[in-house]
Amino acid sequence: MKTLVIVTHPNIETSRINKQWAEELRKHPELVTVHELYSTYPDGKIDVEREQKLIEAHDSIVLQFPLYWYSSPPLLKQWFDEVFTYAWAYGSTGDKLRNRKLGLAISLGGKESDFGDDGAIPFTINEITIPFQATCSYTGMKFLPIFTVYGAEYHLSDEQIGQSAVNYVKYIEEQVHAIEKAQV
Ligand SMILES: Cc1cc2nc3c(=O)[nH]c(=O)nc-3n(C[C@H](O)[C@H](O)[C@H](O)COP(=O)(O)O)c2cc1C
Repeated sequence: MKTLVIVTHPNIETSRINKQWAEELRKHPELVTVHELYSTYPDGKIDVEREQKLIEAHDSIVLQFPLYWYSSPPLLKQWFDEVFTYAWAYGSTGDKLRNRKLGLAISLGGKESDFGDDGAIPFTINEITIPFQATCSYTGMKFLPIFTVYGAEYHLSDEQIGQSAVNYVKYIEEQVHAIEKAQV
């Protein structure tokens, strides 16, 4: 079954990383359904039933976004608040997320060395994303390893971004779909 990739970037036209990631994913329609929140809902009015049906049609979800103030852009937070409803996502009969897999694909302005014990930001990306992990626990989803690209504010070359897009597809194949690479 395909992976649902939810892309949340408020300015995708001026984006370098998330735009290229989405373009690379669209070359693999057998692997992913790409769903962009800001272009789907330019007025910010999320169609909850449509979102729930999309999730129900996929075993795995990847949330792709740029890190904004150590969190996600606001439409993704709104998406959680409105789509993960009582009796659908949680509550005694709310089991629609149970056993689905959730991954994150995050671009960061800071360098990798900025994060963690020795960095200016004494938290790792694993720690920063704890709210997503807690949401997985609460709703019975399995949290997958996080795909990251650091250093967006340090002049990543087109080649580096291109390579990250290829690595991203590989991440979905290997970490999300768990496709075993053929042994040579
Ligand atoms: C409003 C805003 C907040 C940001 N907050 C962070 C942040 O907390 N940490 C960080 O490393 N980068 C931060 N950045 C940098 C973005 O993460 C970076 O520009 C983005 O990942 C680049 O991806 P793109 O080329 O797809 O836009 C922020 C950028 C903006 C515009």
